[in-house]
Amino acid sequence: CMVRHYKFNVVMKNTSKLCSSKPIVTVNGKFPGPTLVAREDDTVLVKVVNHVKYNVSIHWHGIRQLRTGWADGPAYITQCPIQPGQNFVYNFTITGQRGTLWWHAHILWLRATVHGAIVILPKRGVPYPFPTPYKEEVVILGEWWKSDVEAVVNEAMKSGLAPNVSDAHTINGHPGPVSTCPSQGGFTLPVRSGKTYMLRIINAALNEELFFKIAGHQLTVVEVDAAYVKPFKTDTVLITPGQTTNVLLTADRNSGKYLVAAAPFMDAPIAVDNVTASATLHYSGTLSSVATTLTAPPPQNATPVATKFSNALRSLNSKKYPARVPLTIDHSLFFTIGLGVNPCATCVNGSRVVADINNITFVMPKISLLQAHFFNISGVFTDDFPGNPPIAYNYTGTQPTNFQTIKGTKVYRLAYNSTVQLVLQDTGMLTPENHPIHLHGFNFFEVGRGIGNFNPKQDPKNFNLVDPVERNTIGVPSGGWVAIRFRADNPGVWFMHCHLEVHTTWGLKMAFVVDNGKGPNESLLPPPPDLPKC
Ligand code: C2O
Repeated sequence: CMVRHYKFNVVMKNTSKLCSSKPIVTVNGKFPGPTLVAREDDTVLVKVVNHVKYNVSIHWHGIRQLRTGWADGPAYITQCPIQPGQNFVYNFTITGQRGTLWWHAHILWLRATVHGAIVILPKRGVPYPFPTPYKEEVVILGEWWKSDVEAVVNEAMKSGLAPNVSDAHTINGHPGPVSTCPSQGGFTLPVRSGKTYMLRIINAALNEELFFKIAGHQLTVVEVDAAYVKPFKTDTVLITPGQTTNVLLTADRNSGKYLVAAAPFMDAPIAVDNVTASATLHYSGTLSSVATTLTAPPPQNATPVATKFSNALRSLNSKKYPARVPLTIDHSLFFTIGLGVNPCATCVNGSRVVADINNITFVMPKISLLQAHFFNISGVFTDDFPGNPPIAYNYTGTQPTNFQTIKGTKVYRLAYNSTVQLVLQDTGMLTPENHPIHLHGFNFFEVGRGIGNFNPKQDPKNFNLVDPVERNTIGVPSGGWVAIRFRADNPGVWFMHCHLEVHTTWGLKMAFVVDNGKGPNESLLPPPPDLPKC
């Protein structure tokens, strides 16, 4: 294994999309940003230099950061932000992971344009558990606002209402040939007939779950969130913000051009941007004058398509890549997730939309939780995050009339190596919405999912404890639930939140504190000397 050095200069860059330009925050002037390539077991050092007027921090989404929580990146959770003119070296080792992950800014809404792929190759000489593809390609799905993204969210926070939706979705930075500005073209994937390609698909969009589809071609899913799955064929991939999906694409046509589409999925469309992003699959030798074969992605509310895809995912669970599902449970947690309304004197309606977990709307601290934890600084957080909702009710039926939530910086404490079962129940309060929940520092297993209220007596009988899919971000269905399990084998402070940026902003977030173990390699390492100060 080796040490890889990267330099990320955070700089403004004037960028043109949808036939209009604006300055955006980028890494090294690129949108999407540079791909970070490493092998399993490599150590990666990324020097981030902040040349913009905003505070910055970068998160390595899905990298486990075993004992190196200081390098995880969420601002005010594991570090104070890198201030303008300052820099910080993220130093971490990639342990026991290979596949596709991604990095993104983890402060304000900067991740709209500050994101890129992480490609982790298997150890040298170790093959993929599927035929080696002829070529590999990163495919990043994103969103584009014509106006300044920070202005959009600031306006929403002032008004107490929902922020404006984006003006387009993007594929590798481009709205594409089927958009309001076709003259700016789009991303083209050149292929040769008969060859197989691996697409490393990443959903970097701020606020939209997406369907991904290529006209006239089937896709074979082989990996999600840097964990191998039992390969299966599909014509549509469902991918939530935060998730990554590797698919094999066999170019089994002789020639032609085929449309690639990324379109939003939402059970209950409310203010959803329904602009489909497009790109082109182009067989070599095909004249550019040849018409593109179009494709129709599933409609926005195609829940059956989404459910079918989610249910098809299984861990590979081979001898070499066993699924290590915790079979006993130390902490059995039940979290309701949803939206609420809190009073707000200065807001448009005298109230603001908030979001919560177990009725707690998380309040960001002034210094990082990890520092407070490590240095025993009191008054920053309390470790009384409720493991169950404050009142039991019919979560998807008749609901309490009081939508008001409690504000607090509360964490849930776990002993080193304890096992956790967490049921995430969407309440469908206010509006029914899906929530892609992301847990930092761990992979977890999705042992069950269902629609309606979780039934603690019946549903666990049907849990899959053999080959459940392993991942770091899970789409909790609207008015439904998901049960996950993980082992708390990573000491530190670990953020868990909805990966729809608007919901995180509204407070749909919390953190786990995992205490040190007693063994020699079971404690959090000390902070790096250049850790930013608040
Ligand atoms: Cu990809 Cu806390 O996020």
